[in-house]
Amino acid sequence: MSEINLGVTCDMHVHLREGEMCDLVTPTIREGGISVAYIMPNLQPPITTLDRVIAYKQRLQELAPQTTFLMSFYLSKELSADLIHQAASVGAVQGVKCYPAGVTTNSAAGVDPNDFSSFYPVFQAMEEEGLVLNLHGEKPSVAGESKDIHVLNAEESFLPALRKLHSDFPQLKIILEHCTSEAAINLINELNKDIANVQDIKVAATITAHHLFLTVDDWAGNPVNFCKPVAKLPSDRRALVSAATSGKPYFFFGSDSAPHPISNKARHINVCAGVYTQSLALPYVAQIFETQNALDKLKTFVSDSGLQFYGVKTQDLKSTEEAVIFKKDQIVPDCLSDGKGTNVVPFLTGEKLNWSVKW
Ligand code: NCD
Ligand code: DOR
Ligand code: ZN
Ligand code: ZN
Repeated sequence: MSEINLGVTCDMHVHLREGEMCDLVTPTIREGGISVAYIMPNLQPPITTLDRVIAYKQRLQELAPQTTFLMSFYLSKELSADLIHQAASVGAVQGVKCYPAGVTTNSAAGVDPNDFSSFYPVFQAMEEEGLVLNLHGEKPSVAGESKDIHVLNAEESFLPALRKLHSDFPQLKIILEHCTSEAAINLINELNKDIANVQDIKVAATITAHHLFLTVDDWAGNPVNFCKPVAKLPSDRRALVSAATSGKPYFFFGSDSAPHPISNKARHINVCAGVYTQSLALPYVAQIFETQNALDKLKTFVSDSGLQFYGVKTQDLKSTEEAVIFKKDQIVPDCLSDGKGTNVVPFLTGEKLNWSVKW
């Protein structure tokens, strides 16, 4: 196979920021082979109002007219059941992202993952409207008498909270975003074991491109590869690769491409978490699928399963063009730059990828 049509592709977890970085990276969604992108709300301040989400989407649409943007709110005290109903009725958002306070970039306004009860009216409204709850599934690090929480077990420690949310809201669509551990994969499999029909899937997980490549050794000492949740053990990476290439409809692509200016990555204190993969999203993923002889499952992962879970319809699309990858080597550039001082280093800079994208 030297050319593969991947249909209407989707990346269900994208950070585009605002200002110059946004201008630089938004057009690269399409360059990376992605048609539909689900946009994260962790701006400063976070997106919690209808006006802001509408204005942000408009700006993104100007920067990338052919890209279909699905939008999200940031779960916080500013949200109410009324706002959810109002936003859903005009199709302004497709979901709500939940960040536990303090776990990652711009998460200070997030929620206490030990107690979601004050958000239950919001979750109920989301369940009624069919909106998706996107979970950043990590407990904040803490040295505890009975249990220490740290970056390596932060995701596994969050899983009971996911289980409880699903049992309290069995019809709510929930995604464990950017999952990184074998424990998480096992739970998602377990929660779907009796599902006979793709329409009945309520709990899914996104998997990034970079977590298919990285383990702890790759980010310890290399801030370009540092992200949250951190990449974990080789056994975890194998579980992710196996889930992504399985063809199971509850594992799909969400790049978590998270651009930070070089100056915020290449410094000796407060290195920002985030790996930028947008401009080569499909080539990275194809590289891994090829090593697994699983290119026949790539379209399921980067198109069908995500569109199905979000219920994206043809009439929602800005373009029905299909992305095609073809066998052509390319070297990942040193950096992406606007020539005016905004720069971001792409994942695997300097390395060779086997696949390229065309439309
Ligand atoms: C913060 C920073 O500047 O260090 N965020 C950012 O650059 N977007 C880091 C943080 O808020 O965690
Ligand atoms: O590595 C990450 N970067 N993880 C996140 O959850 C947030 C993201 C960002 O916004 O930079
Ligand atoms: Zn996240
Ligand atoms: Zn993210």
